[in-house]
Amino acid sequence: QKGGFKHFMLKEIMEQPQVIQDGIAGRIDDATQEVVLDEIADLPIPGRLHIIACGTSFHAGLWAKYLIEEWARIPVQVEVASEFRYRQQVFQEGDLALAISQSGETADTLAGMRIARENNLPIVGLCNVVGSSVARESDGTMYTQAGPEISVASTKAMCSQMVALLLLAIAWGRKKGTLSAEAAQQLTGQLQRLPHTLSTELERMRHAAQRLATQFSKARSFFFLGRGLGSPLALEGALKLKEISYIHAEGYAAGEMKHGPIALIDSEFPTFALAPQDSLLPKVGSNLQEVQARGGKIIALTHPGTDIPSDERWEVPQMGSALDSFLFLPALQLFAYEMAVYLGKDVDQPRNLAKSVTVE
Ligand code: F6R
Repeated sequence: QKGGFKHFMLKEIMEQPQVIQDGIAGRIDDATQEVVLDEIADLPIPGRLHIIACGTSFHAGLWAKYLIEEWARIPVQVEVASEFRYRQQVFQEGDLALAISQSGETADTLAGMRIARENNLPIVGLCNVVGSSVARESDGTMYTQAGPEISVASTKAMCSQMVALLLLAIAWGRKKGTLSAEAAQQLTGQLQRLPHTLSTELERMRHAAQRLATQFSKARSFFFLGRGLGSPLALEGALKLKEISYIHAEGYAAGEMKHGPIALIDSEFPTFALAPQDSLLPKVGSNLQEVQARGGKIIALTHPGTDIPSDERWEVPQMGSALDSFLFLPALQLFAYEMAVYLGKDVDQPRNLAKSVTVE
């Protein structure tokens, strides 16, 4: 059942190259390289998008906001469903709701969808479980096609949501003409090469995570920092670590550190930094200098050739722009996994958690 792996979580992390392959299958036209999303072809392109989700799915939504706003120039509001449902919403003509849920049964997400329905918003559901409530209550359903996710901590589901959301951002960008055919083709080409690169890297990444886990397992707290697309990934890295290893972890947009959190930094409070080779790298670098100046140890997840402060460099190959996230995500997942294994925790069944949160 676990395919030779010790835990479902590890199996599911290692399945991600296949998950990406399955997520793009049939969604990129062989001849034209254009993205084709038949499931939502009848729905309008939104004037504004409301993304509703919880937990890891919420982080996927935060990540997608950057892409949809940049490529499709559609304003995106991302909100945890438990807040969305109880807030006095201001909807307007042209709004569309996008519900993201692996299980398709999360109570708050479903309640948020019902509010969108009462206000006559078209609803797109992005979910993994076929025939789930989210699928049934949507006007158009995009399935993530990740296969069953057994481990309570969500891993491959987020990867599959990111694939679908990236395709959605490209599709809307092309339809609106805000994304050029060349730029779209470059992205889909990179996406098609991604499963191969990831499958050759995952084992190496696991070893790096194992080594870091032996070094950092005594930490009582951790920061995860990133900017741009790295900022929602930092939130996800912190969530994974806390839920399976029970180590206190906070994810922050790196620029927020000096507004308070940096007060916590000392030699006992390490930072896991997401530092891809991109235009924001110098900004992340200066945030890390401030961490180092206060004696904080740094693990920097980065690309070859970057110049940034760190105690431990963890290099992964550079894929380019949004695609880099698909290597950073499993690195964060593997780090949390190896920390929890090293500490002897019940990785697949963490305390106090259920796979599907069907009550409020
Ligand atoms: C974290 C985790 C949860 C879920 C959340 C939403 O590892 O599993 O945070 O992401 O409960 O679940 P879905 O996506 O099923 O709505």
